[in-house]
Amino acid sequence: MNLPKLRIRHIEVDIPIIQGGMGVGISWERLAGSVAATGAIGVVSAVGTGYRHPDLVKRDKFGRPVGSINTHHPEALKRIIREAKEISGGRGAIGVNILAAITDYGRVARDAAEAGADLIISGAGLPLSLPQYVEGYDVALVPIVSSARALNLICRTWERRYGRLPDAVVLEGPKSGGHQGFKYEDCFKPEFQLENLVHSVVEEAKRWGDIPVIVAGGVWSYRDILWYLERGAAGVQMATRFVATHECDAPLIYKEIVLNANEEDIILLKSPVGYPLRVIKTPFIERLLAGVNGWNGCVSNCVTPCNRGEEAKKVGFCIADRLGAAWLGNYEEGIFIIGANGHLLKKQGIVHVKELIDMLTGKRPDPTLDPEPKRVTVS
Ligand SMILES: Cc1cc2nc3c(=O)[nH]c(=O)nc-3n(C[C@H](O)[C@H](O)[C@H](O)COP(=O)(O)O)c2cc1C
Repeated sequence: MNLPKLRIRHIEVDIPIIQGGMGVGISWERLAGSVAATGAIGVVSAVGTGYRHPDLVKRDKFGRPVGSINTHHPEALKRIIREAKEISGGRGAIGVNILAAITDYGRVARDAAEAGADLIISGAGLPLSLPQYVEGYDVALVPIVSSARALNLICRTWERRYGRLPDAVVLEGPKSGGHQGFKYEDCFKPEFQLENLVHSVVEEAKRWGDIPVIVAGGVWSYRDILWYLERGAAGVQMATRFVATHECDAPLIYKEIVLNANEEDIILLKSPVGYPLRVIKTPFIERLLAGVNGWNGCVSNCVTPCNRGEEAKKVGFCIADRLGAAWLGNYEEGIFIIGANGHLLKKQGIVHVKELIDMLTGKRPDPTLDPEPKRVTVS
């Protein structure tokens, strides 16, 4: 069966798959451009772009970008978007993922719109003011939510303040990579699993005039995609599977760490952003869990909830420094993010984006698949 096209505002793509944004540096121009070239939506991350183009930014003696303007750098983001579009050859679409919690959020949203992003996807906090930053630009706005209540609040606020609604919404369940929009203990409860949230969010989206719902967090295969489309989703957002591709912008060591991870190595941590963070147990995480505080001062001022290092000091690490170290391939000091299904990637190995998209659209056998996925549906 051919999957249906995905339409979001002025965008129409042949494949209803969005490759989720992955910061720092896991999805930049190469991955996003290659995904878009297949006719899907590729997404670059807007966080920590100063690491991608160090020639443009002021750095400290350890190479860390100084202050949020150098960490989330306007020209670096523009280069990344421009190059992603070149790689895509004009096919698919290119989005930008912006964490709502980053310092200078409004400025970065405007940078993305100015650079010609087709859509902005934004979560880790409710992007209640997003429309005001991109006024005058024809960019689709896609908030990430974890409940129908959050979608309702965004719709009410945007309609009242700006006279517009989200062009689509990503519903992200608690199996995703990175930050989770749930309390730690709720991440494991059946009622908060994606399969049990989809109905209420699809119903809420219908009440506002059929906003397309994109589901994310543990969606793994063609079979999963069909399952969610049958339940009213317009598309899926997937990230973990794209880490094990040649085109993924992460260094090879990142991919090797992921391919070596077992189920019990993938854990949830407290993060300075204020949400649980899913990572792989690597040497730095082992030291952190043993009580070592790895905070080395605040240089980048990367996220507002951290309060210039106050939260980082409490949880024992700076998120920008640690994700920056992972992007630089530092196994000892980096933090390596992955989704809860990341341990299945060893069955996939490192493949080309086109091969992965063929697996996800039912055109090629998927070596990671065996049993039917376990789904506990709460009625
Ligand atoms: C390595 C990695 C980094 C991520 N970084 C971000 C991020 O910076 N912002 C964000 O909104 N989501 C981030 N995510 C979440 C993804 O965009 C996506 O929604 C989610 O991982 C989907 O679930 P899946 O990984 O099970 O496919 C990240 C995920 C991964 C695996």
